[in-house]
Amino acid sequence: TDAQKITLGDGADVQGTRVRVFGRVHRMRGQKELMFLTLKDGYGFMQVVLQGQLAKTHDALTLTRESSMEILGELRRVPEGAHAPNNRELHADYYTIHPGWKAAGGDDAITNKVSKDTEHATLLDLRHLTLRGETASKVLIVRDAVEFAFNSVYKELRLRKVSPPALVQTMVEGGATLFGLPYYNEEAFLTQSSQLYLETCLPSMGDVYCIEKSFRAEKSLTRRHLAEYTHIEAELDFIHFDDLLSHLEEVMCRVLEVTMSDPTVKQYILDLNPEFQMPERPFKRMKYSDAIDWLVENNIPNEDNEPHKFGDDIAEAAERKMTDIINRPIFLTHFPAEIKAFYMLKDKEDPRVTESVDCLMPGVGEIVGGSMRIDQHEELMAAFAREEIDPSSYYWYTDQRKYGSSPHGGYGLGLERFLAWLCKQHTVRDCCLYPRYFGRCKP
Ligand code: 4AD
Ligand code: MG
Repeated sequence: TDAQKITLGDGADVQGTRVRVFGRVHRMRGQKELMFLTLKDGYGFMQVVLQGQLAKTHDALTLTRESSMEILGELRRVPEGAHAPNNRELHADYYTIHPGWKAAGGDDAITNKVSKDTEHATLLDLRHLTLRGETASKVLIVRDAVEFAFNSVYKELRLRKVSPPALVQTMVEGGATLFGLPYYNEEAFLTQSSQLYLETCLPSMGDVYCIEKSFRAEKSLTRRHLAEYTHIEAELDFIHFDDLLSHLEEVMCRVLEVTMSDPTVKQYILDLNPEFQMPERPFKRMKYSDAIDWLVENNIPNEDNEPHKFGDDIAEAAERKMTDIINRPIFLTHFPAEIKAFYMLKDKEDPRVTESVDCLMPGVGEIVGGSMRIDQHEELMAAFAREEIDPSSYYWYTDQRKYGSSPHGGYGLGLERFLAWLCKQHTVRDCCLYPRYFGRCKP
């Protein structure tokens, strides 16, 4: 009872003293008089030894993985070669499995439900259980650290956080991926991006950002598309396109530094992605037109299986091939207006293209999309007309161009894609808690 309660990752300084820990059984193996358990609690792992009578109780003999336990004992150092987490062991002198704490065994055991042979769809139905796996829990812990790092880096750079609505009546990135829903007696949509709202905040708050959900009714099943994803968006006032690119580079690199400054998180990232290296600055910059030439030279065809030509969308497969070959972050800039959203500012020198940027990462491709915004009223109205969008529901957006417009720009970064790159995950579905995508809305 006098034992200090510690988490399983704590207690480097309490060697030799009695401690009390709580955790779940991650692994277990028994020898005649001895049982070795690895406990986990989200903060770390600890090897526990049950000896003598403690290894022979009914609870010990019927112990199942994932059961919760309370254990008292003494922490002792063990040699490196023993492979005990943090090179130590808890020698139990007492433990309890409180009523209800024991995990189901037999056919219903977690190890029967979730194994290497379990079908992919079943694993996704059991996400609430697969979350407990080592990889999933590391990715989620890294995600927490990355989100925190974005907040702290934005604070360093003096951006203010706002929280725009998710229920909207306008679109940002094209009608094809809008989720509609009945809203009292009107129609509303789930937001695709908070960009337009962020733009309205500039006059009152200066540079702003938000970390909100965006929704896209994507009908394709790819490894980088979700129906609901976490969108990190920022908008900067009185800037040029070059400022936007250097800000973006600064944010991404500072976020990585802040994230890696936590030793546990750094270790998890290296466990998940042993080859991880900080990106080299400055990032490679490549114009869309040069990318088209590059794709032609490298015989990477477009979606019609023909050589790429100016004006083509660079589809996911081609984009990823290019990024994997170049194998470093790329700022792909100056996309043609026709293949980009209505609000993007045209380049003064070459009006065929816009001041736009996608940031591409090896293994994933596009993780950021951004641009300078049209800041002149007439030009914006012409863009609405060209895209055949009725501007009436955008009155609050077009008003910005009437009451003190400014050169400004911003971007959106998909958190799950950033994590897929950082943690080297095959799909963004493994980089969020409960993925939502075409055909899946559970658990
Ligand atoms: O390129 P997108 O569509 O750009 C915008 O929405 C801008 N309005 C953002 C802005 O300027 N404020 O989306 C931005 C990023 C993409 O680069 C990608 O990382 C992510 O959002 N994204 C998705 N992530 C997962 N699933 C999807 N279906 C995504 N669609 C976009
Ligand atoms: Mg995009």
